[in-house]
Amino acid sequence: MTPELGCCYYPEHWPREQWEVDAQLMKDSGLSWVRIGEFCWSRIEPKPGLFEWQWLDDAIDVLGQAGLKVVMGTPTATPPRWMLTKWPDMLAVDRDGQLRKFGSRRHYCFSHPGYLSESVRIAELFGQRYGKHPSVVAWQIDNEYGCHDTIHSYSSNALVAFRQWLKDKYKDIESLNEAWGNVFWSMEYSSFSEIDLPNLTVTEANPSHEMDFKRFSSDCVVNFNRAQVDVLRHYTDQPLIHNYMGRIVEFDHFAVGDDLDIASWDSYPLGFLEDRSDSSDQHKRAYSQQGDPDFQAMHHDLYRAVGKGRWWVMEQQPGPVNWAPYNPAPLPGMVRLWTWEAFAHGAEAVCYFRWRQAPFAQEQMHSGLLRPDSKPARGLLEARQVASDLLSGISTEQCQAKVALLFDYESAWAWQVQPQGQSFDYFRLQFDVYRALRSLGISIDFVPKNSGNFENYSLVIAAGLMSLDQSLMSALEASKARVLMGPRTGSKTEHFSIPDTFECLPGSVSTVEYVESIRPDKPRELPAGGSIIEWQEHLHTDATVLEHTGDHAPLLIERGHFAYLTAWLDQKALKRVLSDECIKAGVTTYDMPEGVRIRDTATHRFMFNYANDTRQFMGESLEPASVHWAELDQS
Ligand code: GAL
Repeated sequence: MTPELGCCYYPEHWPREQWEVDAQLMKDSGLSWVRIGEFCWSRIEPKPGLFEWQWLDDAIDVLGQAGLKVVMGTPTATPPRWMLTKWPDMLAVDRDGQLRKFGSRRHYCFSHPGYLSESVRIAELFGQRYGKHPSVVAWQIDNEYGCHDTIHSYSSNALVAFRQWLKDKYKDIESLNEAWGNVFWSMEYSSFSEIDLPNLTVTEANPSHEMDFKRFSSDCVVNFNRAQVDVLRHYTDQPLIHNYMGRIVEFDHFAVGDDLDIASWDSYPLGFLEDRSDSSDQHKRAYSQQGDPDFQAMHHDLYRAVGKGRWWVMEQQPGPVNWAPYNPAPLPGMVRLWTWEAFAHGAEAVCYFRWRQAPFAQEQMHSGLLRPDSKPARGLLEARQVASDLLSGISTEQCQAKVALLFDYESAWAWQVQPQGQSFDYFRLQFDVYRALRSLGISIDFVPKNSGNFENYSLVIAAGLMSLDQSLMSALEASKARVLMGPRTGSKTEHFSIPDTFECLPGSVSTVEYVESIRPDKPRELPAGGSIIEWQEHLHTDATVLEHTGDHAPLLIERGHFAYLTAWLDQKALKRVLSDECIKAGVTTYDMPEGVRIRDTATHRFMFNYANDTRQFMGESLEPASVHWAELDQS
């Protein structure tokens, strides 16, 4: 299948006479998809129960007649103002107990039963009207769950729902007290109705309480999404999609993805570099107009797993955005590079956000493929170039990677609840491992911990995985893969206490003497090169010690095809350790030039140069901000 291009369009923002011109230009520019509708509720139902569908009917017809395929968004991320008059308590409440008011978007609490029923009602009306429309060939539910920090709400509705969730989980209050360890600080409860939400406590709340609140909040998102899925499935057979975001871990994307057909995400490489990367200022300066060479790819691989192989970029940055601390323009060539990188990682479609820059409201400084005066912006020229590249019919068929990283949202919550060192962050740990592997030229798959089958992987890595269950261990033991765990893997029970035994190396006996978090400005040098940062565990073990720390503590230990790393390492040490692990697992590595990354598909090797100057790799001269590809030698 040849991947396709698209864009995000808001017909309600533009005069009616503009639509045909826009649709034709989209088509002529090589776009196939157009996403609409996700913020249009106030124009469809301007008053409760009063509907104005005609304009949307027309817009779909205009787009369809131009030969475009429509992704229809359900508009539930932006309930109209009257909704609050109807449901005054539907707003979310932040951790400090403040209402999150109307006037932007995502102003709802996932636990509000009234808003949930309104969402199902509007999704059903959209489904009834457009579910069988020949031009509506995919659906997006809501928009970016979790964006603007909107997963956790401390509202009175959340409290009622949380108590019920706890009751369903623990059945009786004694079991909850036991599981949470509430004998500590006399926190024992005598009924579920006494339990509060874990905010505004005098000092830290019980971590088990926090952990269950995070699980509950994630389940609320799953339920909210599922309610719309269930109703839409009655009216359409077309694929249902959600557009996830970058570096949002507050809900279990795998659980939401299980109910959908395709995963998608919104890729803003320059915004993310400034807004949500932990990199040094030097790194940010070097990549300020290209984006981090690993950030997009990591999300492509993660969302490919969430979509069980089917995924898109629903929104692609086409030029400067408006929301990061600094908003430079991409270097010429980067919009094309980002698009091809997504295709190389298996995206079925890449849609640019947005078609035309809006001269009004919050995003007036956000570029589009067109300028506000409808003249082409540079992003459109690069999109057209990709459209013309695609005419060659090059295949982006995917194949299973040799190396798999276990990604687990619950573990991200665990280390938010109890970081132990203030900068310990699960996403960052995964990102460090991912970056080190990519700088060794490795193509990577993410897998959820319950995937059950690791058969065809050569190396499986589980860093920072909160707890280990027997089925995961059995699946890993049954696989022939080399397994690398740690640091901090298996260090909690499911109820968030310290387990009695160390389970990471089957067949060996190890005990944890103590663990430490480390100041970022005090790394510990390793005799073999590189340093320990952030975290170190001190173990006694009868397993083979492959490497020691400077003070002769075990750093890397091994038993059979399992290995365990006792510390968080900087890139230099991580690359060294991972490169040795790859050799043991029979995986070929390369020493990638700074800024150059590769991705292997079933048939091709794609090469991306994120650097601002020309780089050499395997005999190819890669100009700045460029993508190259070559057929793989299959012999
Ligand atoms: C996304 C969002 C879009 C738009 C865009 C701006 O997060 O889904 O609606 O706001 O950011 O970059």
